[in-house]
Amino acid sequence: MSQDKIIAVMGATGAQGGGLVRAILNDKQGGFTARAITRNVNSDKAKALAKMGAEVVQADVNDEESIRKAFEGAYGAYCVTFYWEHFSPEKELAHAKNMAQAAKQAGVKHVIWSTLEDMRKWVPLSDNRMPTLMGKYKVPHFDAKGEANKFFTDLGLPVTLLNTSFYWDNMIYFGMGPKKGPDGKLAITFPMGDKKLPAMAAEDIGKCAYGIFKRGQEFIGKTVGISGEFLTGAQMAAQLSEVLGQEIEYNAVSPEVYRSFGFPGAEDLGNMFQVKRDFEKEYCAERDLNLSRSLNPELLTFHKWAEKYEDRIPLE
Ligand SMILES: NC(=O)c1ccc[n+]([C@@H]2O[C@H](COP(=O)([O-])OP(=O)(O)OC[C@H]3O[C@@H](n4cnc5c(N)ncnc54)[C@H](OP(=O)(O)O)[C@@H]3O)[C@@H](O)[C@H]2O)c1
Repeated sequence: MSQDKIIAVMGATGAQGGGLVRAILNDKQGGFTARAITRNVNSDKAKALAKMGAEVVQADVNDEESIRKAFEGAYGAYCVTFYWEHFSPEKELAHAKNMAQAAKQAGVKHVIWSTLEDMRKWVPLSDNRMPTLMGKYKVPHFDAKGEANKFFTDLGLPVTLLNTSFYWDNMIYFGMGPKKGPDGKLAITFPMGDKKLPAMAAEDIGKCAYGIFKRGQEFIGKTVGISGEFLTGAQMAAQLSEVLGQEIEYNAVSPEVYRSFGFPGAEDLGNMFQVKRDFEKEYCAERDLNLSRSLNPELLTFHKWAEKYEDRIPLE
């Protein structure tokens, strides 16, 4: 029987978990093996992971007992929540709690919790520069993840709190790519003014997480912030123009305008960008580019990411 240590991966058919599963499976001599957790073991994505060599098991983050079973016998567990499936910070808190308790019961030796900062530490609810959302959040999909850190730490789990970064892939899958304005010119739109946005290739999150599992003990009980590069909107637009071979501008709207765009989550994201803009120094300081590269030597820069995914970036 293989002596490889099992890493149980939540969201294995998704961006973060998928990156981790592939990183584990691509490193045959690494001493680890991947257990991919999915709600549907018969989906095409789940079958593709099985074909690559992952053990694929069924569980649902709503069901703690199913997660406990999926974590049983694993050395490591990668825990991530799925905010954009339900837009509910309360569900995100409940899901994080389920995973933390399941990891405790299963006796997992190293847990990575994919989290983000509770932005209320920078902008308390009393701060009127941005609206309070859902009664008690400034940036619901950040605040709830940060608040959920306590479920992992209070249980005394051997946990690494992993502060991730904005995915450049949002330009492909989240409607944030170049769009034509009223003047007919293509532009990317962010309410960041001239401030830098820490971001990365989604795939690199899993690769960095694998680096953390490999180095193990060094990161247990630690908070680690990862990113690929810090760039302004103007810098991203200039690099996109170069790679795509056509002029892309940067449309620096105000956070108020961004919040009013009306798509689901627009207010949450408008507030998020505003905190990243107003606390650029503090927010960047929590992400370490050198450490990210040492965890994942293949870490992509924005330029390399754009070259790699050039054909997938939709141009309206
Ligand atoms: N977009 C960004 O820039 C960004 C940046 C940092 C952090 N995040 C955070 O990343 C998280 C999402 O991670 P991701 O991007 O890797 O997700 P993703 O690509 O959307 O994939 C999520 C996967 O989760 C699984 N899933 C969904 N509901 C589930 C449930 N009830 N039980 C078990 N599995 C479930 C699904 O797998 P099956 O269908 O196979 O079950 C799906 O493939 C969000 O919380 C978001 O806030 C996003």
